[in-house]
Amino acid sequence: MAGPLLLLLAVVAVALAVVPSATTGSSSDDDSSHPFNDLVHSFSGGASYGGAARQAAMHHDAAAAAASERGEHHIPAEGALAHEFLEAHNALRAKYGVPPLRWSSKLARYARRWSWLRRFDCVLMHSPASPYGENVFRGSGTDWRASDAIRDWASEAANFDWRAQACHPGQECGHFTQLVWNDTQYVGCGRTECFTQHVFITCSYDPAGNYKGEVPLT
Ligand SMILES: *[C@@H]1O[C@H](CO)[C@@H](O)[C@H](O)[C@H]1NC(C)=O
Repeated sequence: MAGPLLLLLAVVAVALAVVPSATTGSSSDDDSSHPFNDLVHSFSGGASYGGAARQAAMHHDAAAAAASERGEHHIPAEGALAHEFLEAHNALRAKYGVPPLRWSSKLARYARRWSWLRRFDCVLMHSPASPYGENVFRGSGTDWRASDAIRDWASEAANFDWRAQACHPGQECGHFTQLVWNDTQYVGCGRTECFTQHVFITCSYDPAGNYKGEVPLT
């Protein structure tokens, strides 16, 4: 009995050691804390919008083409949680005059899997090499709902400079710009209550937003 438990603790200890100082704050994302930050920025050739994961265009195009060939995106929302995630996104998008998103079971599977993998540590980090856009949220306690995560991401609107079409210097707005990215069509999300008494929420987006040189609403 003791063997597997100790092994598990050791694995968690290593995971925590690899991801230093990621667990401050309550409800909001601290992008500087996730270990793929540099990787994300190196894809974009410098911080453009920051925040939500950007991925190489080649990856994204290949994945999107394959997915639409398989017709995997055109599945209606399953269940109350999916409905809550979708409605929260689309209410915000309506405010900014961008078309509503559709729910994707495939994206939801990806997001659920990533949130489930974080259940031991609830460290706020992006999934490695996701072919999708991705927003992440972590809240302290277990009461956080789908709409809380969207509200938290949307609050970054205050950090977006509409004239410059960029985040205010040194501030994060990439979660917001992904939410209102015009060309994004599909979303799928997952929510996990971690053993650490936090909630981890992540949404995946296709096509991914936050392409450098493009602006959110067009
Ligand atoms: C936003 O996207 C929709 C469909 O994806 C497109 O028809 C529309 O032209 C886009 N809007 C702008 C302002 O580019």
